[in-house]
Amino acid sequence: MILVIGATGKIGGEVARQLVTAGSSVRALVRDPSKAVALADLGVELATGDLGDAASLDKAMHGVDRVFLLSVQDLRQAELQGNAVDAAVRAEVGHIVKVSGIAPSVSPGGPAEIGRQHWQTEHRIEATGVPFTFLRPGFFMQNLLETAAPMVAKLGLLAAPMNGAPIAMVDARDIAAVAVAALTSDDHYDRVYDVTGPRAFGYSELAAVLTGATGRRVRYLDTPPRLAAKALRRQGQPDWKVEHLVEMAELFRAGAGATVSTTVRDLTGHAPRTIESFAAEHASAFKR
Ligand SMILES: NC(=O)c1ccc[n+]([C@@H]2O[C@H](COP(=O)([O-])OP(=O)(O)OC[C@H]3O[C@@H](n4cnc5c(N)ncnc54)[C@H](OP(=O)(O)O)[C@@H]3O)[C@@H](O)[C@H]2O)c1
Repeated sequence: MILVIGATGKIGGEVARQLVTAGSSVRALVRDPSKAVALADLGVELATGDLGDAASLDKAMHGVDRVFLLSVQDLRQAELQGNAVDAAVRAEVGHIVKVSGIAPSVSPGGPAEIGRQHWQTEHRIEATGVPFTFLRPGFFMQNLLETAAPMVAKLGLLAAPMNGAPIAMVDARDIAAVAVAALTSDDHYDRVYDVTGPRAFGYSELAAVLTGATGRRVRYLDTPPRLAAKALRRQGQPDWKVEHLVEMAELFRAGAGATVSTTVRDLTGHAPRTIESFAAEHASAFKR
């Protein structure tokens, strides 16, 4: 039995679906079962619980061999994921696959709060002696649907604080496929994998790709991180989140997203999705 934590999110949902397709028995820890009806229909067993509730974690871990661990970016991320690690140890789980942060951010003295928290959780897992696989993905292509698509659709403007920095964006479905490969094999114990798309490109090139996909001119506008922060505050984002997004933007502007890995192909046997195919598939989200 494999327990998927974060199954109502982008990567976790795909992990649960792909595991079912691969023939695995899957249980999902969910806070709100009504958000996981489609997964239950596929045969995923639902365990209602919360990373903040140790008793619910013990119940969810019962009879579990492997755990997929992911939760939302949050100031309590390390504490909440630490609860899952402790419960996995109590349940004598045999393997933890954790989605971490982009590699240059995962360090005890790193420049971004969430990256430091990912490092704390990785460190905590390593100290347990439970076999682990850490996935350190790059910038998700799916972020564009939330952050960029509305303004591109309305104004034909791709505004972001990324300057010309090359970023090897990755499709969340490919990260999920890598996680499934790790969860269904003994070959990836105590390994750390960077997970990226097939090539790095800047936002000007991204604007050109979106122009091609939508048939309407999209222009890139570089917004300095502090100016972007002001806009995010006006939208009502909490201070820590704005600060985190600025820290991440500074990291990307310094080239942290440029590295391309071969992990998707190496672990899944298929090529990672390209930004062109992602843009074509989601073209309607970038159109008025
Ligand atoms: N976005 C990027 O470009 C990027 C790049 C590298 C790494 N990452 C990392 O990827 C992770 C986010 O992945 P994602 O976008 O797939 O996540 P997501 O779509 O935001 O989903 C988060 C999941 O965590 C669950 N969750 C949150 N708090 C919980 C709690 N207290 N108890 C139980 N479940 C809880 C959510 O459940 P509910 O539905 O109940 O809220 C949801 O299923 C973060 O750790 C982030 O640092 C992101």
